Amino acid sequence: MDRRNATLESALVEARELYARRRPESLARHRAAAEVMPGGNTRSVLFHGPFPFTTARGEGCRITDVDGLSYVNLAGEYTAGLFGHSHPEIRAAVTRALEGGVNLTSHTAQEAEFARLVRDRFRPMELLRFTNSGTEANLMALACATIATGRRTILGFEGGYHGGLLTFGSGGSPVNVPHRVVLAPYNDLAAAQRLARENAADLAAIILEPMLGSGGCIPAEVEFLRGLRALARETGALLVFDEVMTSRLAPGGLSEATGVTPDLMTLGKYVGGGMSFGAFGGRADLLAIFDPRRPDAVPHAGTFNNNVLTMSAGIAALGRIYTPDVCSALNARGDALREALNATSARHGLPALWTGRGSMMCLHIAATPPRNAAEAAATNQPAKELVFLDLLERGFYLARRGMIALSLALAETDLAAFSDAYAEVLEQRAPLLRG
Ligand SMILES: Cc1ncc(COP(=O)(O)O)c(C=O)c1O
Repeated sequence: MDRRNATLESALVEARELYARRRPESLARHRAAAEVMPGGNTRSVLFHGPFPFTTARGEGCRITDVDGLSYVNLAGEYTAGLFGHSHPEIRAAVTRALEGGVNLTSHTAQEAEFARLVRDRFRPMELLRFTNSGTEANLMALACATIATGRRTILGFEGGYHGGLLTFGSGGSPVNVPHRVVLAPYNDLAAAQRLARENAADLAAIILEPMLGSGGCIPAEVEFLRGLRALARETGALLVFDEVMTSRLAPGGLSEATGVTPDLMTLGKYVGGGMSFGAFGGRADLLAIFDPRRPDAVPHAGTFNNNVLTMSAGIAALGRIYTPDVCSALNARGDALREALNATSARHGLPALWTGRGSMMCLHIAATPPRNAAEAAATNQPAKELVFLDLLERGFYLARRGMIALSLALAETDLAAFSDAYAEVLEQRAPLLRG
């Protein structure tokens, strides 16, 4: 047996050492950054051991780090990087916007045009408003729900991620906003019904991603979504779909694809063409509370909500680039890739499963696909780190948690090369992964 495969632990130690040896400049940058930012980090998800590499530049689907190593970027900015690193139409739109002047202070010509494009595409959003991030969009959607219902309790799902201040993984986060939150396991309708009925008098909203994104690309079963729709009606709560990630998976998002219509819906990530973006919207009667012509209008502020860079890039992104046909084609490519990767695992007889849908997928070192966060957490995490480091050494960058979000910039040859690299890693590490 290859000495490196003696134990998973020793293989990981060696893989981390190799990673560090090849990236002296990234290590120096990391140490310097730690002098001014805690852990050298301003975005927790990007940290991984032994230290994250520093990217110098990106073009198309490739990034190059400060040590000159280049990678095919399959992490795709956690779904926001749908257009790759240098899409010519996005660049042109941003350049035109810059030429027209930034920080214009008043309403701009772009915002209503962009809102109309979003509304026409995502039908549950009869009216909508823009924010700067997906987090803010969810904060506003939940605020809207609590105001509309006059209630305080939110039913969420373990492993759900609705932003840095609304994190439902591992039982919640100490920085979460102080809503009264009760959590059920994902894909467990009976548990959700129990909790919702117990809290019915105070239940303002049921919020979920129609596929757990950060939680491991675990699709919701359609019966689960339908059951939650009925449960919201029964209890008088509002159903909120967080489609910050999943809206890219079908032309009208997963609400349209599954036929389950939420009362409120949120967007983020790629919709702004790669610029800072968020939006919340839904039933016109609910959104009407923000109408400033009303004497009792609820305020919704944000200096950059209508910034011309996002509005212009978003118009190009949704209106001209990520058309329904392009969306369907990208997701078909994702389905084909996921099937190919799973076929490779099966050929090697290894418990390495890719879950997900369309252009989003996640690796789990497990014999059966997880249905919820607890099952995902129980999979073999050290083995996943090893696969992550091995793929990185072969020039493929996935999110550390094993997630892939395909960009339009990836060519068939890139995906084929990735499939080959994955097969090579499985072959080399088979004894450890079987472990
Ligand atoms: C489903 C979901 N909701 C909300 C957010 C938060 O978006 P942002 O990072 O733009 O605040 C994310 C980010 O990963 C997300 O995946």
